[in-house]
Amino acid sequence: MNGSKLGVLFVTSEAYPLVKTGGLGDVSYALPNALRELGVDVRLLLPGYPAVLEQLSLVEVHEDIRLSPLQEPIRLLAGTMPGGMTPVYVIECPSLYQRDGGPYQDNAGKDWPDNALRFGILSKVAAKFCNHSFLFKPLIVHCNDWQTGLVPAFLTFNPNPRARTVISVHNMAYQGLFGPEVVELFGLPTESFSMFGLEFHSKASFLKAGLYYSTWITTVSPSYAKDIQTPDYGCGLDGLLTERQKELTGILNGIDTTAWNPETDPYLSRHYNTKSLPVKVRNTQALRTKLWLPPAKQAPLIGMITRLTEQKGIDLLLPIIPDIIKTGTQLAILGSGDEELEKSLQDLAKRYPKHISVTIGYNEELAHQIEAGANMFLMPSEFEPCGLNQMYSMRYGTLPIVRRTGGLGDTVVDATPDNIQNQVATGFVFEEKDSDELLACVQRAIRTFRDKTTWRQLQINAMSRDFSWHKSAQQYVSLYHQLLD
Ligand code: ADP
Ligand code: GLC
Repeated sequence: MNGSKLGVLFVTSEAYPLVKTGGLGDVSYALPNALRELGVDVRLLLPGYPAVLEQLSLVEVHEDIRLSPLQEPIRLLAGTMPGGMTPVYVIECPSLYQRDGGPYQDNAGKDWPDNALRFGILSKVAAKFCNHSFLFKPLIVHCNDWQTGLVPAFLTFNPNPRARTVISVHNMAYQGLFGPEVVELFGLPTESFSMFGLEFHSKASFLKAGLYYSTWITTVSPSYAKDIQTPDYGCGLDGLLTERQKELTGILNGIDTTAWNPETDPYLSRHYNTKSLPVKVRNTQALRTKLWLPPAKQAPLIGMITRLTEQKGIDLLLPIIPDIIKTGTQLAILGSGDEELEKSLQDLAKRYPKHISVTIGYNEELAHQIEAGANMFLMPSEFEPCGLNQMYSMRYGTLPIVRRTGGLGDTVVDATPDNIQNQVATGFVFEEKDSDELLACVQRAIRTFRDKTTWRQLQINAMSRDFSWHKSAQQYVSLYHQLLD
């Protein structure tokens, strides 16, 4: 431990800017930085994917660690995250992590067949920090999603003094379900494979292990903490979450206000703030040019940046595209994921080239340019644990159009007449999973866009909101202390 500082091991399967598939990557970078600013000695533990080994300068801190059921020894390396704030430990194990493709899937989008072993070992190394004379002995192990769900189970069945565990749920829909043989394989007691343990419909659930055995559960917004206690959003684990509701807290994510800042963003043609808002239009022009969309001075440009999965509500959008573009509105969509959704969107772009641009792939630069260049940002999600893009959008004066679910409802204030009058409105919110409701909401946003004075006020309201990590990080620190008392 470093002096009397609180030691926290933050275990994660992805962290920006090394490896990121979605918001978990952003959170795993920004939250530890914010915790360090509050005096917490938080350190990351990450698998040694090629992108991690290439981008960090690392030294060996432990060699020849042997962990069953892995046949080969692994090495533990240490370095500092880009930006120079947070120490990071990296597990070097070529057979598990050094391969082409993503952290969870191969290049064809198929889950790696040995994911149980890959993330079981990540969890085992995390647990080992607590009972081994490693350089760092955390009092709290902060786990994230199913990939780290076995840590609380390993620590529960470990006779040595152990740390408290927190598991943050970023998405209930991914549970890490594997065959029952993993229980014995990882040396967990057979009694753990039961309803009162990690068993879920005859499978071993890494997420359930985390939810069942952790000292505390957090999720990434207050509304999602309530949502997941219901059958509609609990993905079969709502019963367990309801039982543990006294040990479940929703802490809203923040955003990295340095990386996402329209005043300094290196990807933008022109920088701006609330006082120089007219300059934003230059970014709109640049974006249209880049995406081959013709100029359309009076019509808005709607942006969308997303993993293409059922969660994100693309199904609600597809049927109403012709109605939206009838108004002259254009759409700039960036995303990747489900092949059928990719194809449907590409077909639309071919059919309406003057109105719709679709870029398939992952592109950090374009993501920033869409945030700055679009007038509105669309997130019609079926469910959304927190969502970061609506907060990036507000910071860029790009008003979000969202469904009231999870973190979207917690962060966007609907432009009702009262909220406009009280200068608190920051976007447009609709309620039901229904294309007609979505269309009505988009049309409402378009009408408001034509009223330049109101629009400007909404942009200022949105840009003035504080979405920085500071407040949320303080809530995590209070929680850590509460668990240690
Ligand atoms: P989720 O984690 O469910 O994907 P979030 O809104 O929390 O949703 O975070 C998504 C993050 O991933 C944002 O930083 C967003 O900009 C980024 N992102 C998603 N898809 C892409 C893409 N195709 N290219 C660039 N960034 C993307
Ligand atoms: C998940 C959720 C998203 C959340 C992110 C970071 O991927 O889908 O809503 O913002 O994790 O917590």
